[in-house]
Amino acid sequence: MPQSEIIYDETLVPAYTLPDPLVGLDGTDVTNALDWRERRRPEVLRLFAEQVYGRTPARAVAVRCEVTDDTPGALNGAAIRRQVTLHFGDATDGPALHLLLYLPNNATAPAPLFLGLNFSGNHTIHPDPAIHLSTAWMRPNPDNGVVENRATEAARGASASRWPVERILERGYGLATVYCGDLDPDFDDFQNGVHPLFYAPGQSRPAADEWGALGAWAWGLSRTLDYLQTDSGVDGSRVAVLGHSRLGKTALWAGAQDERFALVISNNSGCGGAALSRRRYGETVERINTNFPHWFCQNFHRYNGDEDALPVDQHLLLALVAPRPLYVASALEDRWADPRGEFLGARGASPVYWLLGMDGLAAQEMPDIHQPVTSRIGYHIRAGGHDITAYDWERFMDFADRQM
Ligand code: GCU
Repeated sequence: MPQSEIIYDETLVPAYTLPDPLVGLDGTDVTNALDWRERRRPEVLRLFAEQVYGRTPARAVAVRCEVTDDTPGALNGAAIRRQVTLHFGDATDGPALHLLLYLPNNATAPAPLFLGLNFSGNHTIHPDPAIHLSTAWMRPNPDNGVVENRATEAARGASASRWPVERILERGYGLATVYCGDLDPDFDDFQNGVHPLFYAPGQSRPAADEWGALGAWAWGLSRTLDYLQTDSGVDGSRVAVLGHSRLGKTALWAGAQDERFALVISNNSGCGGAALSRRRYGETVERINTNFPHWFCQNFHRYNGDEDALPVDQHLLLALVAPRPLYVASALEDRWADPRGEFLGARGASPVYWLLGMDGLAAQEMPDIHQPVTSRIGYHIRAGGHDITAYDWERFMDFADRQM
């Protein structure tokens, strides 16, 4: 069936009814915090696991941490730099996740920090020549110094505009990052990364309700947090998880599942992230499942062109973060990610925050550009396109100063 035209006109958004966060699948109202916590929250989490992202395996695997670098006075004295490899499973050639950590050098107490996945290897976030150059699979990108699926020295610092490391340190935060491709290379196969560690004998793909790539990336964020909570330089009770775009969808799913994340930040996460699927504005469920068949679980493909049949919508994903602080950031020209749908997703999560005694999103209407809303659910829309910029980071840090 041919896909319909992309909707970029508000008047063409179809009428829709969102699932009520405070009405259970059995039709009964959720009237108090305990009922949310013990009944509705687990139900919503299960629906996202079974119908959208796929279930994350409950089984633990062995994790061995190997510190490969521990350098005070890095970045001209601004940082302590640590690099730690997390080896998963018992095999010596099993999957490994490489963590890059910068902490403020002059800290007198364990630092709160931001943890985010990166798209193309730790060495792209800063030109610091001591960052280990990733040897993992990369999508070919001549502008990013990737030749034949491998990073080259030319890739160092290629994404530095997205990671204002010195500024983060100056504001008293640490920064931790890992490459998503260490967990699952971003293409449709499921033969590498962490999925095979969990296969039953004879299994070669996740079952229809088992995790896709986003699920594996989110799992890796939680394993990274396991490590961070053991690092004496890190305040493990104040770790914010953040991500841009596909990695913003992932940050939300990680923050929804793992309540140890103290703050959850979505940047331009769009479809399958903060934006409401039922609006069908910009990227739709069918388009995302067609272009990226491995991101979500197979069950999610049932909703291609049939968003109204979803038992959830993305406001409920955001509600799973409650009562913890949540920040959603949009960009004006990023129509593919449906900025208004992201705002409405955030607003739609508010009733759960109210039930838990918090203010939700303190804005009825979408604010103008560069007018951040800083209630328990924060939101801004900035000028420009699909990206994560210094402006976004300043707002995230302002919000973390206030709410974390
Ligand atoms: C594509 C995709 C989006 C995604 C983005 C990204 O544009 O359609 O859903 O957010 O890639 O991750 O950069």
